[in-house]
Amino acid sequence: MTAGEKTILRPWDDNDLEALVRYADNRNIWINLRDRFPHPYTRADGQAWIAHCQALQPPVANFAIDLNGQAIGGIGLETFGDVHRITAEVGYWVGEPFWGRGIATAALKQLSDYAFATFPLQRLQATVFGWNPASTRVLEKAGYVLEGRMRQSIIKDGRLGDLMLYARLRT
Ligand SMILES: CC(C)(COP(=O)(O)OP(=O)(O)OC[C@H]1O[C@@H](n2cnc3c(N)ncnc32)[C@H](O)[C@@H]1OP(=O)(O)O)[C@@H](O)C(=O)NCCC(=O)NCCS
Repeated sequence: MTAGEKTILRPWDDNDLEALVRYADNRNIWINLRDRFPHPYTRADGQAWIAHCQALQPPVANFAIDLNGQAIGGIGLETFGDVHRITAEVGYWVGEPFWGRGIATAALKQLSDYAFATFPLQRLQATVFGWNPASTRVLEKAGYVLEGRMRQSIIKDGRLGDLMLYARLRT
């Protein structure tokens, strides 16, 4: 980020629809996310995502990454159930025009602090495709530690890949 720029996390709003679709409709983002992230990313997808986020019970778990008043990405967490209920998985993306400016790192630090302050969690984890060094760097910069490589555990766009498991603990 350049001087004067500020990244904040805030709930998704109906007014974010155009920016959401503009930045999310990108193969270079989709290729590093689960297939449940749509591609192409249509207006209907954006409307459904914002409506889904607004329908969830508080506390908020999915945020727009806001840069100078514009939604330029998304970040969120999903808590597991049963004996895993002290663990949540984090996920994030940033619009391609804004890559390499420290925005994902700032957002992940904010989300991690918020998650431990708000939810009874012991552990935050993230899984990263083996071909995504930018995201592993983001996790390391936000205090996440590599715990292992799950070999040949994903298939994306017909390509077999490893999954790297990262985690940050409350303590
Ligand atoms: C991964 C992603 C979130 C990074 O966002 P960002 O705002 O550019 O991240 P930051 O600027 O905070 O940090 C990126 C770091 O990766 C590094 N990096 C970028 N490309 C790299 C590469 N090919 N090899 C090694 N490091 C790389 C940058 O240099 C930077 O590290 P540095 O600060 O030590 O120089 C963004 O590229 C994205 O949305 N990708 C598609 C979706 C995705 O991968 N989501 C995460 C799924 S686990």
